[in-house]
Amino acid sequence: MPNIILVGMQWGDEGKGKVVDYLMDHFDIVVRYQGGHNAGHTVYFKGKKLVFHLIPSGIIRRGKLAIIGNGVVVDPSALISEIEDLRKAGVEVNENLKVSDRAHLILPYHLSIEEGLETLLGKGRIGTTKRGIGPCYQHKMARIGLRIGDLLHPDYLKEKIERNLAILNPLIKEVYHLKPMELDAIYRSYCRYGELLSPYITDTSLVINEALSAGKSVLFEGAQGTMLDVDHGTYPFVTSSNAFAGGACTGAGVSPTWIDGVMGVTKCYTTRVGEGPFPTELPGKEGERMREEGGEFGATTGRPRRCGWFDAVLASYAKRINRLDTMAVTKLDVLDGFSEIKVCTAYRYKGRVIKEFPAEPFILAECEPIYKTLPGWQEKTKGITNYEELPKRARDYLAYLSDLLELDISLISTGAAREEMIARRESVLSGWLSE
Ligand code: GDP
Ligand code: IMO
Ligand code: MG
Repeated sequence: MPNIILVGMQWGDEGKGKVVDYLMDHFDIVVRYQGGHNAGHTVYFKGKKLVFHLIPSGIIRRGKLAIIGNGVVVDPSALISEIEDLRKAGVEVNENLKVSDRAHLILPYHLSIEEGLETLLGKGRIGTTKRGIGPCYQHKMARIGLRIGDLLHPDYLKEKIERNLAILNPLIKEVYHLKPMELDAIYRSYCRYGELLSPYITDTSLVINEALSAGKSVLFEGAQGTMLDVDHGTYPFVTSSNAFAGGACTGAGVSPTWIDGVMGVTKCYTTRVGEGPFPTELPGKEGERMREEGGEFGATTGRPRRCGWFDAVLASYAKRINRLDTMAVTKLDVLDGFSEIKVCTAYRYKGRVIKEFPAEPFILAECEPIYKTLPGWQEKTKGITNYEELPKRARDYLAYLSDLLELDISLISTGAAREEMIARRESVLSGWLSE
């Protein structure tokens, strides 16, 4: 099996966790390359719902290696809890997990800085997951961040925390009017985290590159989605990392020449959590219905997700920026009851028709979707595993999306469980699987 990047095509929560779980049989290694515990990837395992935040969901499969790459930001207490929760659920977490010594550490002051900034932004706030993700990446770029490897060197760790508190406490206290942080408490807990996490800490880029050279196959598990990418998404209403496919190489420490393909994951409608423009959003009853049918509540924060129709302007942009080879379309069953289904094919902005995704949020906010309306199938698709068994109108809908985007559909998800999946013959994926 070649080395593949799997990336969300929308604003996250496309069902990446489920697709990774489905595909993982065919790979040796799974790598998370960006984001942190802002992610929530849902997988059903032995009938139980598991939500992964930092650990790649592919760890469920026995005999596979799961890696948290250098591009991820790690809150060590969240990682320790996740390891414990997975073990309790019967998932083995031992030598099959490696964490990059170069991944940056989230510290308690990151949460205060995020809280202070979101409060000051007021109406312009991002609506973050409040996990300290943004400030951690900010300090990485400012070159004052601490890294996982520092946990193994207590003196160095102490010196750096002390220095950062001297720089950051005045900001926390005077500007954000929050409680300043104490060195001792942080230092003691981070030393303890270091002891607990030391068996997993290593140079993961070396591990991945050696495995690639030995002919092993790697699946790069994207978190968030293309529209939340800090460079290519709906800035400033984005996360603070490169969630698009380009982030896989920097965030895992591998050359682009190792990558054989990119698979996008998209819902057959659209959702978004947090603030920011969303042209196809359905604020009324239809949106509520989609939320109910799709169980659209955040896997990390529990917030209700904003729901709307499929946006092909956005999806085409995601196709281009990631140079997608194929896509997995999820949650088909959620649209089973709708009598009409709409697809946004272009935007109208100040009387002009535009098909390219605009850079400015205030322009996107004024874009009106131009819809093509298709008839709903109004039949049950939940659990169907055979393409031919889908109602004709559901097949027509999928064919319409594929034609519009000029993109192959390899997988169609018809329910949350692993088995509720259609793998299409003659698809790019089946080509990869036969290699
Ligand atoms: P991720 O962040 O991209 O991994 O996605 P999330 O786990 O945050 O959100 C996807 C949600 O949809 C989860 O609750 C999944 O269990 C669920 N899900 C995934 N695929 C399907 C599907 O085909 N049908 C239905 N009904 N639910 C699905
Ligand atoms: P997965 O991997 C959906 C959103 C937040 C907010 C913005 C910035 O499960 O798809 P942050 O805390 O990252 O600084 O918040 O990004 N966000 C997500 N939305 N799914 C996610 O992850 C997300 N991770 C962050 O809601 O709008
Ligand atoms: Mg999610």
